[in-house]
Amino acid sequence: MRKKVTKAVFPVAGLGTRFLPATKSVPKEIMTLVDRPLIQYAIDEARAAGIKEFIFVTSRGKGALEDYFDHSPVLEQELRSKNKTELLEILKNTNMDSGAIAYIRQHKALGLGHAVWCARRLIGNEPFAVILPDDVIAAEKPCLQQMVEAYNETGGNMVAAMEVPPERASSYGMLDVADDQGELVKIRGMVEKPKAEDAPSNLAVIGRYILSPNVLRNLNQLKSGSGGEIQLTDAIAAELTQGHDVYGYRFKGQRFDCGSKSGFLQATVSFGLGREELRDDLYAYLQDIMSVDKAAQ
Ligand code: G1P
Repeated sequence: MRKKVTKAVFPVAGLGTRFLPATKSVPKEIMTLVDRPLIQYAIDEARAAGIKEFIFVTSRGKGALEDYFDHSPVLEQELRSKNKTELLEILKNTNMDSGAIAYIRQHKALGLGHAVWCARRLIGNEPFAVILPDDVIAAEKPCLQQMVEAYNETGGNMVAAMEVPPERASSYGMLDVADDQGELVKIRGMVEKPKAEDAPSNLAVIGRYILSPNVLRNLNQLKSGSGGEIQLTDAIAAELTQGHDVYGYRFKGQRFDCGSKSGFLQATVSFGLGREELRDDLYAYLQDIMSVDKAAQ
């Protein structure tokens, strides 16, 4: 029997400099799409996939993130006394069971691979998921759940994959495809942020991974790679040279790059339109500004 994936690592140590000045005092992961912080979307997706242990790799200044998942007795009491049951219910979803959540500090910004390596003792010797909260994926069936279902058949290592235009290759881990089976893609190599002309395909890694614990051992051996950082991509690529399988998984859903301002705004509009109580107003407003825009052209 394959071991179940019950642990997920959330690398949240980044400074979020692209969102300064907001991120001077607010962790990027607490910034909201409509009314829910980015991290809540990631946690909900993990829960849907059967994750029971949530490991946050944090850094200085991320205290608001720890508070967010804590119970808030004063606020809860206030809402209870006013009979605001709906709001109480919303709050309940943010609470984590005692012991389900752990925080590890990454003391130096040495890259994504290093962040995951920092969690090695909590992960132990079992397969684990990694979720990058910047990549928000809207999907009928949450992306990680799709992947866990596929992984239960394949084992090995699995990364979420999506086609990108050639000029965007230098922003992603790019996959070298051995066998394209449609949804599943068997990989023979991976390279972090190559130049467009060096990209082995147009399939990019998106921030969802299911990894074998052997990747942690590979991280032990790694020297810094692309951008002078310790790359998770390199540790996964090392799996291939050791004869282990790596699959790309073309997920069904729409991915928003919430690490960029434009992606964040697009996600805000899309999630806003997805909310019944906001849709009509927002839609009317968008139509309005579009027609003014057209008239001005
Ligand atoms: C990270 C990974 C990269 C992956 C990307 C997905 O890069 O290193 O392989 O394609 O996430 O969003 P980052 O965006 O953190 O620079």
